[in-house]
Amino acid sequence: MTQNNPSIGGSEAPEGPPIGLGIVGLGMAGAVMVQAAAVHPGFAVRAAADPHPAPREAFRRDFQARAYEDVAELCADPAVEVVYVATPHQFHAAHAMLAAGRGKHVILEKPMALTLADCDAIIAAVERNNVWLIVGHTHAFDPAVRLMRRMIAGGELGRLGMINSFNYTNYLYRPRRPEELDTAKGGGILFNQVPHQIDTVRLLAGGLVRSVRAHANALDPSRPTEAGCMALLQFENGAAASLVYSGYDHFDSDEWHFGVGERGSLKPLSYGAARRALENAHDESKMRTEMFAYGKPSQGLPKNQPHFGVTIVTCAEGDMRASANGVTIYGRNGIQEVAIPPAPGIAGRREVLDDMHAALRLGRKPVHDGRWGKATLEVALAILRSAREGREVALQHQVAVDDGPR
Ligand SMILES: NC(=O)c1ccc[n+]([C@@H]2O[C@H](COP(=O)([O-])OP(=O)(O)OC[C@H]3O[C@@H](n4cnc5c(N)ncnc54)[C@H](O)[C@@H]3O)[C@@H](O)[C@H]2O)c1
Repeated sequence: MTQNNPSIGGSEAPEGPPIGLGIVGLGMAGAVMVQAAAVHPGFAVRAAADPHPAPREAFRRDFQARAYEDVAELCADPAVEVVYVATPHQFHAAHAMLAAGRGKHVILEKPMALTLADCDAIIAAVERNNVWLIVGHTHAFDPAVRLMRRMIAGGELGRLGMINSFNYTNYLYRPRRPEELDTAKGGGILFNQVPHQIDTVRLLAGGLVRSVRAHANALDPSRPTEAGCMALLQFENGAAASLVYSGYDHFDSDEWHFGVGERGSLKPLSYGAARRALENAHDESKMRTEMFAYGKPSQGLPKNQPHFGVTIVTCAEGDMRASANGVTIYGRNGIQEVAIPPAPGIAGRREVLDDMHAALRLGRKPVHDGRWGKATLEVALAILRSAREGREVALQHQVAVDDGPR
């Protein structure tokens, strides 16, 4: 396998026959990736695995493809070249290592794992078996974030000073399984949501976080995991980022993002709807499984760009932020919107697939590899630690962005 520079540029024309993709976990994330891969010219959806029969049946019906009960059977399927792991967090390490051990390339959902030791074990398995690993999707794959990274790296707005990322959602009151409300088992926003923000600001600021000082809160004793946090990240290059996340289902920051939801579809704002729905739930775990499993009517492809709250980048010569359809630059010569041309598929997931395609067909090392994923988890764990111990925490496993040929 050759290792050229990575690129965080746009999509490229696919070369060679479509790559066989297997999906492990036909829940919320799996369903979106199935939809994205089904329209990606470089991939063919070949198989899926999930212990629940209903999404398996729906998948078989839609793709006339194999749907296994056991992930090991999917990993033994010769038609599958790349395995996308979208099972609950606590299974990520085992499933990624199983796939790598069978010689499959791996796309692994965030968080990469629950501990740095598990990240190391995944990295070792990937290297031993000479396969590619991409940790994602995160919103760092969003076209608007990539465009802002290219502008920062190109120096168009001068030196980067700071990034402000904030997101207010209904996270805590979406239906949850018990472990999702237990931080020790990977529950809460530090494993589930904030990794999107960490990955994004690391990409924008070059990757190397020097230290973290943070506050985190769990304000609802009936759902005792962190749903709020504020963190200050200092980067080696002198830039800083502030991350704010609140998942208490009060203010919704999509109101400040043109009324566009996370995946890029217009979103009717309905105050407190998640809490009201939960009050009427008889069996929350069952509701969680049934609400999001593959096979529900598709929402159609989003018309706007995806985003994760509001991200404002401040450079010496101006500010910029993601807009509904591109990036708005507030520069010396006024305000200018750089539109992102519409492209087929689901933005964000498409770029994950593009990067795996480029790795397999062009030997191009992805930015979001195992060491990158570990560095993002390190920051999430440092936020938790800083909040608990009331002090600044230094980072030790950070890796830099290689912007590659531009
Ligand atoms: N990148 C994103 O924007 C994004 C969005 C949603 C979820 N995720 C990530 O995807 C992962 C799954 O989250 P979700 O919300 O889709 O959860 P989910 O509960 O909706 O789906 C998980 C699926 O995995 C299946 N599963 C459980 N054990 C399995 C096993 N041993 N083998 C095969 N399948 C198994 C479950 O039956 C379920 O269908 C999480 O780690 C989450 O962080 C990422």
